[in-house]
Amino acid sequence: MTDTIISANPVTGEKIWEAPVGDADAEVRAARGGWAKWAAQSHSFRIEALRRFSNIVRGKIDEFADLISRETGKPLWEARTEVEAVVNKVDISVEAYFERTPSRKKQGALSEQNALRHKPHGVLAVLGPFNFPAHLPNGHIVPALIAGNAVVFKPSEKTPAVGEFLVGCYHEAGVPEDVVRLLVGGPEQGKELAAHEGIDGLLFTGSVRGGLALHQQFGPRPDKILALELGGNNPLIVWDAPDIDAAAALVVQSAYMTAGQRCTAARRLIVEEGKHEPLIEAVRKIIDRIIIGPPDADPQPFIGCVIDNASAETVTDGFLDLMMKGGNPIAHLRRVEDDKPFLTPGLIDVTSVSDRVDEEIFGPLLQVIRVPDFASALAEANNTRFGLSASLVSGSPDLYNRFWANSRAGIVNWNKPTNGASSAAPFGGIGFSGNHRPSAYYAADYCAYPVASAEAPAARAAIAIGLKDPPAEKTYDESKLSEPKS
Ligand code: NAD
Ligand code: SIN
Repeated sequence: MTDTIISANPVTGEKIWEAPVGDADAEVRAARGGWAKWAAQSHSFRIEALRRFSNIVRGKIDEFADLISRETGKPLWEARTEVEAVVNKVDISVEAYFERTPSRKKQGALSEQNALRHKPHGVLAVLGPFNFPAHLPNGHIVPALIAGNAVVFKPSEKTPAVGEFLVGCYHEAGVPEDVVRLLVGGPEQGKELAAHEGIDGLLFTGSVRGGLALHQQFGPRPDKILALELGGNNPLIVWDAPDIDAAAALVVQSAYMTAGQRCTAARRLIVEEGKHEPLIEAVRKIIDRIIIGPPDADPQPFIGCVIDNASAETVTDGFLDLMMKGGNPIAHLRRVEDDKPFLTPGLIDVTSVSDRVDEEIFGPLLQVIRVPDFASALAEANNTRFGLSASLVSGSPDLYNRFWANSRAGIVNWNKPTNGASSAAPFGGIGFSGNHRPSAYYAADYCAYPVASAEAPAARAAIAIGLKDPPAEKTYDESKLSEPKS
């Protein structure tokens, strides 16, 4: 077991951060010490602190984006959009908090009132992924703090420096140090945190493998809230698209943005047999023009590298496996340099591959599936145990109506990419993509629980039914019957 986490720049190999693994027990104890006071503060006190946080992050946008780029290898322009999402999260979460978890009082028949209020759970653990190391954990942490919870945040072992930076910004904004705690570590520390009796719930964004393990672990614990935001094997159908170049651009954006390391990335491109060639050719032409390079390259690259060499190997193996099974490569996915995790975007026709595995291959790889009619396209789109995002590119509103009605996914788009989900909407999937606790706008729902109270200023009650008649009034002097004998 490693007792030090070292984070290296995936492009240069340079070490950028190192720290010993943390102590889950100590972090949970600290957060337990802090949460009651934080929960007792007014909403406006907590919201003020988070608005200061948002301003502090805005002031550090260059520094923060540079760190995200260095730790993940994503282009600087894209890292900046991630920091902007962190900034914008606060206002969206405040609105969501009041809309999703409002307080309300309704007058009852007599003088009583029926009140609805929400309470925080207590201490929530947050486990973050590497692909959006700031934006996605922040999407749990901000709503959790607004609702009055304390948080123990364990960033991915691949992006701890970004995690530490984010936590520093909350503290600088005046969120007490015992209300947001940083736990450094990998899956082992994640497991310790998840198993700790002192947490009241766990908010997880990560792989289906991690999510399934946590789901099993939390099975016998209905007392703890568990929110799982997992991966996908997302379909993108292009059917009767009048503008082939625009359709091709949407395909490329959906499949290859962030080097394919988005949970919402398109993994399967479903097209009409016989009419597919112009689209595939247009996609291939864009792929040929994609600039792949380090974050600060000039001109800016469209994509950077994947997170590390091990991941590059896994994705390359996934591509080779599909080729071995009979897939027909249209654009080869290959390493740009042997010792660096840059990958060229892969496009492969897998129509004839009968034993395709329903796995998320987390990199720039898109599988093409040709089908004879739209009903088959819908069936293929739903041919997955996941259900995160799905998109249709088509000029036909009728087809979109059919697609929307039949798609099994939490995000169903029309003439828009599968990715780039809005923070102002619920973000989650069905099937193995989550456990029906969507994040983003609906994160407020899992950060607090509703308390219903019937309330009256004085007790006024009488039982009007189901009682025997009261005993008859006594007419004799009882004291005489019980006089003590001398
Ligand atoms: P991961 O599952 O490897 O790790 C996520 C976090 O959980 C890390 O902090 C890790 O240390 C910890 N962890 C892993 N296994 C654990 C376990 N059994 N118990 C406790 N902690 C554990 O995920 P990753 O590789 O960092 O991220 C990429 C994955 O995340 C992809 O599958 C992607 O689709 C998914 N993702 C989902 C969303 C979403 O909102 N649905 C968003 C982004 C990424
Ligand atoms: C992600 O996919 O990981 C982030 C959200 C998105 O781009 O839709």
